[in-house]
Amino acid sequence: MNKTRFGCRALMCLLLVAVTSVAGARELKLGLIVPGSHAWSKAAETFGEDLEKQSDGEYSVAVFPAGQLGSEAQMLQQLQTGALDMAFMTAAEVANRVPDMGALFAPYLAENVMEADQLLNGATAQALLEELPRKAGVVGLGYGVAGMRLMLTAFPAEDVQAINDHKIRITPFPPVQDFYRLLGAVSTPMPVTDVYDALANGQVDGVDADLELVWKLRLYERAKTVLRSNHMMFPVLGLISARTWSQLDQDDRDLIRTLTRTRLAELAPYYQKSQAETQAEIEAKNVKVIEVGPDFFGDKLDQWEELWMKKTPVLGELRGEAAEL
Ligand code: BEZ
Repeated sequence: MNKTRFGCRALMCLLLVAVTSVAGARELKLGLIVPGSHAWSKAAETFGEDLEKQSDGEYSVAVFPAGQLGSEAQMLQQLQTGALDMAFMTAAEVANRVPDMGALFAPYLAENVMEADQLLNGATAQALLEELPRKAGVVGLGYGVAGMRLMLTAFPAEDVQAINDHKIRITPFPPVQDFYRLLGAVSTPMPVTDVYDALANGQVDGVDADLELVWKLRLYERAKTVLRSNHMMFPVLGLISARTWSQLDQDDRDLIRTLTRTRLAELAPYYQKSQAETQAEIEAKNVKVIEVGPDFFGDKLDQWEELWMKKTPVLGELRGEAAEL
């Protein structure tokens, strides 16, 4: 064989290998409700880069932030049918399918994001993941956190009575609905994507959110007061469609689970550090940030507790674990 023919054959072989590996590569679609600038979206992007690298290009991940694929309820349906492979989704949405998960939102269950992360890696929260395939058609790969919850108000709010009768945007799911009902607010369920406009046009006059949302969605532009109450944790779940999961071998499952958990675990230290910086940025915009604790809510917290102790035994188990931290 002359040199030219050998060169051509080698090139053909290389091309064939390249084409085969591209054809063999699998792209996983991953959806989120939060904007691309949000820490959850960044975690999803870096997870995708990790997976592509560590699977030697066998997998790639296409990330769709900002509700491009629909609401979280719609994404959960897509995961169920296999139309969507993965999501980093609020535990709030998943709690609509797995009601016991609502106990994770007990007021002052965790004092801060690091405690929240510890609880989410504890026996009770991990056991809740086992229920997901049967109840929601998804596999729960692991938890992460968002910032601790606060209340932003477009009216002056120095005490809890000030919330009474005001329209407060909430993430739509039972524990938070109960919380604001007990506070006497008119809770207005709404996905995070709609909050800025709703606040701007007066559809709501307060928002249950966290510091990152107040800053990145520019909600501070409409704020009189930010009550930094840290009243709840707000977990995110790394989810994969049970259909997609069933097509993966054990090595690929282990790799996807490990890489997802690694990136989600970075969220708690990230928020631990960034929350104070974000608060300073918001204060520099002349918004009054008032730090309040459980006392601010008076007997409302006991009322919530009584209600939820009847709803699920998981709350007592989580309180027990929290007491050990
Ligand atoms: C919310 O509904 O408030 C929310 C959604 C996603 C991430 C953080 C908060």
